Amino acid sequence: MTMSIDEAIKGRRSIRDYKKDQIPEGLIRQIIEAATFAPSAKNGQQWRFTVLTGESKDKFTDLYRDRLGKLDFDVGSSYGSCEMMEEAPVVIIVWNTNQFGWETEIHSVAAAIQNLLLKAHSLGLGTCWIGDVFYTYNAVMKHFKKPWKLLAALTVGWPAVSPGQRPRLSVDEVTEFMG
Ligand SMILES: Cc1cc2nc3c(=O)[nH]c(=O)nc-3n(C[C@H](O)[C@H](O)[C@H](O)COP(=O)(O)O)c2cc1C
Repeated sequence: MTMSIDEAIKGRRSIRDYKKDQIPEGLIRQIIEAATFAPSAKNGQQWRFTVLTGESKDKFTDLYRDRLGKLDFDVGSSYGSCEMMEEAPVVIIVWNTNQFGWETEIHSVAAAIQNLLLKAHSLGLGTCWIGDVFYTYNAVMKHFKKPWKLLAALTVGWPAVSPGQRPRLSVDEVTEFMG
């Protein structure tokens, strides 16, 4: 059964606990395909994806954990994010090709991520957008040696939890209508 747009948008939650089961590659391809249908600045399609499973994921999370340990300032929720990436069967690194260095290229990639998260939710998959990878930005860039800029990491897996909705500001709190 197809999920309605409202069910997808309002039902999606950041999932931080995953079952051990692997994700078929076909499902990963489906969620990335959804990402590629996002709008983008000048149709530049600035998104790129590196899908990590198994050993490549372990290498990445080992590097992340190691680098966090070397930082001498507060790294916020990073260790929690690290554990999440260790537990999830799939981590997707999202890049911005940054072809022209436009701010709007970042927006394109963010739109693609939201498509991906919604499609994943519609397939019963859990995801979490991880910005904490920016604490180790240089190390991640050095590790993957891509000509692009790191935008985010995403965890993907079968949800082991079903969290309730987080509070949201109302339309009136975030909007002004001007005549
Ligand atoms: C740009 C961005 C960065 C985020 N970084 C992290 C993160 O590093 N770790 C984490 O656990 N959640 C992260 N999140 C998830 C947010 O905490 C989550 O979306 C927010 O609390 C709302 O909850 P919901 O996604 O369940 O609606 C991030 C979300 C966004 C959009």
